[in-house]
Amino acid sequence: MTSYDLQGVRSQLPILNEWTYMNTGTVGIMPDPVFEQLTDIMRHYEQGGHTAQADAVAGAESAKEALAGLLNVASAEIALNRNATDGINLVAATFPLKPGDEVITSTEEHPAMILPLLAACERGGATLRFAEFTPDAEQLRANISQVLTDKTRLIAISHVSCETGTRLPAAALREIVGPEVAILIDASQSVGQFPVSIPELEADFVIGNGHKWLAGPKGSGFAWVSPSSEHLVPPAYVASDSFDPSWTRAYYQTDPAPALKFADGASRYEFGTRMWHLHAGLAASIEYQANLGWDAIFAQVADTSATVKHELAALPGVTVHTPASWEQSSGLVTFSIEGHTGVDLAGTLWNDYRIAQRRVESPSAVRVSCAYFTDDEDISKLAGAVRNIASGI
Ligand SMILES: Cc1ncc(COP(=O)(O)O)c(C=O)c1O
Repeated sequence: MTSYDLQGVRSQLPILNEWTYMNTGTVGIMPDPVFEQLTDIMRHYEQGGHTAQADAVAGAESAKEALAGLLNVASAEIALNRNATDGINLVAATFPLKPGDEVITSTEEHPAMILPLLAACERGGATLRFAEFTPDAEQLRANISQVLTDKTRLIAISHVSCETGTRLPAAALREIVGPEVAILIDASQSVGQFPVSIPELEADFVIGNGHKWLAGPKGSGFAWVSPSSEHLVPPAYVASDSFDPSWTRAYYQTDPAPALKFADGASRYEFGTRMWHLHAGLAASIEYQANLGWDAIFAQVADTSATVKHELAALPGVTVHTPASWEQSSGLVTFSIEGHTGVDLAGTLWNDYRIAQRRVESPSAVRVSCAYFTDDEDISKLAGAVRNIASGI
């Protein structure tokens, strides 16, 4: 039993009248009241000209405050941007790497992680190494030890695997890699599913997006940069707010030019006229969920994913690849059916059953997402479809 009105919430998500939506891990769905707030905000910002500018900026600031509350950090440490890829690139673009240096990532990363890291390594003459993703802290130590050397400068890894939904024992990382290696956590698949307290991660950088588990607008993301690690990643793009003092022609347009000094805080990573309305929409979305109750949402994600795993694992020919325990997993559940590729299975679930999910390449499987709106009927439709497919019906 959820403590919020689950059917009331579902009635605010019109797509659920047509489909079984189990793909929040790719993109979340925005409830009607948040969407209406977003369109009101957009109308005001887009039609109000410069007179709406102050409201626009204040709206974006409210997203920083909402995220800061959720993540247990100061809002000045959060930069708003477009998506998780933006946050990864914020680090990869300028993190200091020289020939011979090494970077570690995991075997279950999204291309949004691997490709910017490869580009950073190629630019700096560094090497990218892969440690096997695992939910077990001792195993993680063993896996990372195989690739950790005195040349390792950065470990960049997901909090939750987008492939198997496995949860990394992220709080163990600092002790495993030691104080000298910078840590970048990709929280795209964790924030909004279970409590994430950034200080407990002892990371240098934590990045994420608004459009999945936070049900915010596409084009809203964030990067948290530890104040003590800002010097490692000078902004690749700069503007007025990047520097201290902020722009005046009298100060900066001089000969000789003044020495540049970055401003304190993550606003140094923000520039130009931007998508303030989307960030204000993210604030509205976070507030909507906070009103449902984050603990209730986390409990719903845990309960529904446990039921999905339980029901699917009981079916002949079905393998659940996601760990059974909640502490080692998330709302993502990855499973396969003997004799079916992930691509085929994903196709059948969509074409024949209108169950939205995503195929996984390795293992060849399908991933479903259990979100704050997932209910028993969704689960029985999924279990029924998988039973039929597994038994050749
Ligand atoms: C773990 C992970 N990282 C990064 C991304 C990319 O996210 P975005 O589209 O917000 O850049 C995804 C998207 O699925 C993801 O699952």
